Amino acid sequence: MQLAFSQSCENNKQPILEVLSTAFAKSTHILEIGSGTGQHAVHFAREMPHLFWQTSDQQPYLEQISQRLLQYPTANIGQPVALDVSQSWPIKNSHFDGIFTANSVHIMDKIMVEDLFSGIGRFLSPFGSLCIYGPFNYNGQFTSESNARFEQWLKQRNPHSGIKDFEWIVELAFNQGLKLQSDHSLPANNRLLHFKRE
Ligand SMILES: C[S@@+](CC[C@H](N)C(=O)[O-])C[C@H]1O[C@@H](n2cnc3c(N)ncnc32)[C@H](O)[C@@H]1O
Repeated sequence: MQLAFSQSCENNKQPILEVLSTAFAKSTHILEIGSGTGQHAVHFAREMPHLFWQTSDQQPYLEQISQRLLQYPTANIGQPVALDVSQSWPIKNSHFDGIFTANSVHIMDKIMVEDLFSGIGRFLSPFGSLCIYGPFNYNGQFTSESNARFEQWLKQRNPHSGIKDFEWIVELAFNQGLKLQSDHSLPANNRLLHFKRE
């Protein structure tokens, strides 16, 4: 079977890893939300053998993630679990001291992003880290022409999706007891936001 593949994942996985290596240096169990093709999971789990990487996504994506894990076996990756942020999360207790999600917040509508943060509030353990990768707007402005064009493309596909405001994300995180630790500028006008539960 041909594996699902994203060129942007290939391009961004190394710059993201460089930030995660520090942000998740003391973490042991990471929950990834919206694992997509599984490319990030395989790369990050291999390069950070000190932690266990739990993949998840909405049901239709699980097969493609499983296929990638089959072709790139790594002991410290968990088989994907069905997790839709707006439904009941398949997590029993709060043993995740890290949560990661890439390129999902601009796909979600605003209610889903609120649901994402309410789940993070329930399932990220004390002192855990949250890392969110993707494009964000600042002071209501796009950070680049290409992000403005990307927004138009997103809205044509789904008028409820779109690039979210950095300030709103910080507020949602703060309401769940998370404080922004760092905001990294990554290639292609993307950011990596690192929050910590205090
Ligand atoms: C553009 S893809 C990004 C996939 C991968 N993380 C990457 O960076 O290539 C968006 C991801 O967000 C996930 N997603 C969208 N809405 C979601 C929801 N309500 N609950 C969980 N995941 C969701 C999709 O299933 C998909 O995996």
